Amino acid sequence: MAKFYLTTPLYYANSRPHVGSAYTTLVCDAIARYRRMCGDDVVFLTGTDEHGENIERAAAKQAITPAQLVERNRQVFLDLWKLLGIRYTHFIRTTDPAHVPAVHELLTRARDHSYVYKGSYQGRYCVHDNLYVSDSTDPIDCPTCGRPAELMAEENYFFKLSAFQDRLLDLYEKQPDFVQPDFRRNEVVSFVSAGLKDISISRRAITWGVPWPDDPDHVFYVWYDALSGYLSAIGFGQSEGRGGEFSRYWPADVQMIGKEILRFHAVYWPAFLMAADLPLPRRIFAHGWLLFEQQKMSKSKGNVAYCEPIVKVIGADALRYYLLRDVVFGQDGNFSRDALLTRYNSDLANDLGNLASRTVTMINRYCGGLVPEASANGDLEADLEMLASEGVRSFREGFEQFAFARAIEAAWDIVSRVNQYLVETQPWVLAADPANRGRLDSVLYAAAESLRLLAVVLAPVVPEAAEKIWRQLGLEGSPENTRIDQLAWGGLPAGTRIGRSEPVFPRLDKKEAIERIEAMENEIRQPAPATEAGSAAAPTPAATPAPAAAVPAPAAAAFPAAIAPRISIEDFAKVDLRVGQVKSAERVAGTDRLLKLIVDIGTEERQLVAGIAAAYQPEQVVGRKVVIVANLEPRKLRGVESNGMVVAATRPDGSPVLCTFLEDVPPGARLK
Ligand code: MSP
Repeated sequence: MAKFYLTTPLYYANSRPHVGSAYTTLVCDAIARYRRMCGDDVVFLTGTDEHGENIERAAAKQAITPAQLVERNRQVFLDLWKLLGIRYTHFIRTTDPAHVPAVHELLTRARDHSYVYKGSYQGRYCVHDNLYVSDSTDPIDCPTCGRPAELMAEENYFFKLSAFQDRLLDLYEKQPDFVQPDFRRNEVVSFVSAGLKDISISRRAITWGVPWPDDPDHVFYVWYDALSGYLSAIGFGQSEGRGGEFSRYWPADVQMIGKEILRFHAVYWPAFLMAADLPLPRRIFAHGWLLFEQQKMSKSKGNVAYCEPIVKVIGADALRYYLLRDVVFGQDGNFSRDALLTRYNSDLANDLGNLASRTVTMINRYCGGLVPEASANGDLEADLEMLASEGVRSFREGFEQFAFARAIEAAWDIVSRVNQYLVETQPWVLAADPANRGRLDSVLYAAAESLRLLAVVLAPVVPEAAEKIWRQLGLEGSPENTRIDQLAWGGLPAGTRIGRSEPVFPRLDKKEAIERIEAMENEIRQPAPATEAGSAAAPTPAATPAPAAAVPAPAAAAFPAAIAPRISIEDFAKVDLRVGQVKSAERVAGTDRLLKLIVDIGTEERQLVAGIAAAYQPEQVVGRKVVIVANLEPRKLRGVESNGMVVAATRPDGSPVLCTFLEDVPPGARLK
């Protein structure tokens, strides 16, 4: 049995997935199902990328800890994959304790070969994409998301990427399909040919990451950490690669990604592996973006469509079909609800659905519910058999080249031809005269056998519908247990008792279906209109400790839908709230959000970090009396210790308003 290791990217667990972010996983699921149907032993990995500054910030925005945020969002991913029928075999979370030794092992191997050194980094960094945007300190926007890149200056550990330029160019030349499609490979070759700079692989200013093995001030750069997930998921770094799993499945056969993360996968990743003397993945395939209103679907831009409403109204199969059929895989594609519903009604309900229901209905009506014997075949049946066999062949060819739209078109040639064949042969007319029995049987056998072939080839694309057709044909097992690579005409046994005809894709009123989808999407959007942080996924605010800094919260956190569960007066008394007077204030380097404050709380002076810099200049707060949570555990923000929390309210636009006093009150006075 050949092994096939397929991976999706590991999704940032900072926000709720939308159709764009589910795209890679849906495509991979279709590929995994197809490979299983070719008899391969498939490992299909997906997972969540749970570390880094974007997670840290998203959590702070919602006044929860990063661990709580990723726990919650991971569940949203798991629920969605279930709803979409994603049959992954492995799910890695980068906060899994078993992941840490893999990251350390990768580093140790690179260090053993002297590819890691300590240096200092200064430049512009995009926190959203975890991308080093420029080594210059001049302001610049992130080329991927368009947000302003932030200034960063840190002492870091570096990876000698520059040492791999020749080996990488050699790889792209000797193994031209390492990066696909070809035009993406060319982009990578030009990027590497222009010269490679060493990259920082540790971060000092954040704590939410895999700890550096022998330096407690550092955590791993989130991409080094996340890419290692492809290894740790199958046992790398664990004893004996978890029973030989690692040596059996590595290297990955296909790593599917979106185009904006190509550099990480086609340049950094092979270099990290080369440095560790590990085999390289066989193929990195970068697909395009799903656009909505001409822009990349993205929550921050507000132009997103969510999967859940679509699945509820027209089913997961319809979404899978639409994405695989309408988007030329590899290119950007436009998402439109109108086009989705058009495909649903015309291709699925009309063409395929009708073929299934008329065939099953006629066998029930004219053949006593038993698949007839093809006793009087003529030229038409021979032609149909040829066309169907050719259709299956081109479906497979297209699918194996990841040309999904072409593959599906080939399957639809079969659907259209069989529908036309039924119109030409008119079995309902043949049935009127017993003298036509043989012809009638042959025609209905040919239609039913075509349907069986279609159920098999379409199983990776529309698995639920394929199952339904299979059952209506009265077949045992499942289409997915049929070897697609051995599929041949004539496998439907005569005499099979078929099932009842039930609509596979009931026709829908397009306008009404779109309205229902949009109404449900609005419900998802409303609880958290302005945040990137996925709070829409959380039905109620978590009753959790706040972080050690007053951080501007989004509108949803400002006016949470429900009051937190009641607590006793004793619980409240545990919170030591004090009046504090701000003695000095300055901005924290590398962020435009945080102020470092020295605050007199009567008994002592405390250092606090407060997320109020967007609303207050340092000089505005010096001398002010504020409210402090004095007994919070200290915590580091951007490497600066915060010993307590400043209390602030949040306006609907997310900006903070400091809590203060109209009458005079001495520093240190307790609030109760
Ligand atoms: N965490 C990194 C990946 C680390 S892999 C070791 C990451 N995560 S992501 O959540 O931002 O993106 C995950 C995948 O979703 C990417 O392949 C990305 O291209 C895909 N998509 C997100 N929005 C998309 C569209 N609108 N259209 C198509 N795919 C897009 O990057």
